[in-house]
Amino acid sequence: MTPTPGTATARAYPNIALVKYWGKRDEELILPVAGSLSLTLDALPTTTTVRLAPDAEADAFALNDAPQTGEAAARVSRFLDRVRGLAGSGARAVVDSRNEAPTGAGLASSASGFAALATAAARAYGLELAPRELSRLARRGSGSAARSIVPGVAVWHAGDDDAGSFAEPVPAPELRMVIATVDTAQKAVSSRAAMRRTALTSPFFPAWITSTEESLAAMLEACAAGDFTRIGRITEAHAMRMHAVIQSCDPPIRYLAPASVALFDRIAALRGEGLEAYGTADAGPNVCAIVRPEQAEELADELRGLGGRLGLGAEAVRVVGPGPGAETLA
Ligand code: ADP
Ligand code: DP6
Ligand code: CO
Repeated sequence: MTPTPGTATARAYPNIALVKYWGKRDEELILPVAGSLSLTLDALPTTTTVRLAPDAEADAFALNDAPQTGEAAARVSRFLDRVRGLAGSGARAVVDSRNEAPTGAGLASSASGFAALATAAARAYGLELAPRELSRLARRGSGSAARSIVPGVAVWHAGDDDAGSFAEPVPAPELRMVIATVDTAQKAVSSRAAMRRTALTSPFFPAWITSTEESLAAMLEACAAGDFTRIGRITEAHAMRMHAVIQSCDPPIRYLAPASVALFDRIAALRGEGLEAYGTADAGPNVCAIVRPEQAEELADELRGLGGRLGLGAEAVRVVGPGPGAETLA
């Protein structure tokens, strides 16, 4: 199919961080206080179409068929301003997006959302961007989106400046992730607001930054060595530290629910029974566990059993693997 000039559709997948991004050193440029590392998934994508509307006076943004106003629309429009600046265009756009992941629930909708928007908007406005430049552009919409441009395991370099802060692929052993969806509701405090509050009010924030830098260095070594056990131990300890620093802000924020804690406890117990898995959770109650491919279904069955006892539906638990980078569809 020949693409229509001024219209483009792109798809991008969420990524779950194994070493987390939590804190900005520059809110305008979205430069993180430390680098991070994640797995881009092969499920729950965002698909976004951008259509230039030169006669329109304002951008329009619909998410899952619902016209958006307020902060969600303003955030998309600010992002398009940046694309327009790069393209030397004044044209407004109509943006239509569909998330297969729940929005704002800690399953990285802002990552897949802005990676898809960056890819579609770049094409619609006629920008030819190399993956590194596309990653930098996506970063300006949502920091974690820089990593959803990249397939599989990605490191996002903190960088010294705008040009140095992008994500790229990292060789790593084969992993699977089992996602246990505890709650699909939109979080009460967005990642952006919670991150800001943590940096401003947590007495533990400086230690969190140092610890993240150490975890990332160790994680890159473990990935290069193909050492699943080390990858897993770093992942779980680091996730607990992130939730600890979040809980230590004023007023405090807690993303983990009782069911999330029960899942973490079960994952730890399973390790004692020879099923080696390690848990993590982004800014929400949903728990993701990494596991070797050959044990993924066994882990999913175990977590489904617990999920049933916790009142979660059978469809709440699913196995995902490494997925593709952001791609233009038309
Ligand atoms: P999540 O854990 O889902 O990433 P965040 O708090 O980081 O939650 O971000 C949620 C916000 O990201 C939404 O309120 C909206 O502003 C934005 N967002 C989510 N999906 C999309 C999308 N497909 N296109 C543009 N913006 C999106
Ligand atoms: C816990 O990228 O959603 O998922 O840059 O303000 O849009 P903004 O925040 P966002 O934060 C992600 C936080 C996290 C950890 C991670 O993905 O590394
Ligand atoms: Co997000």
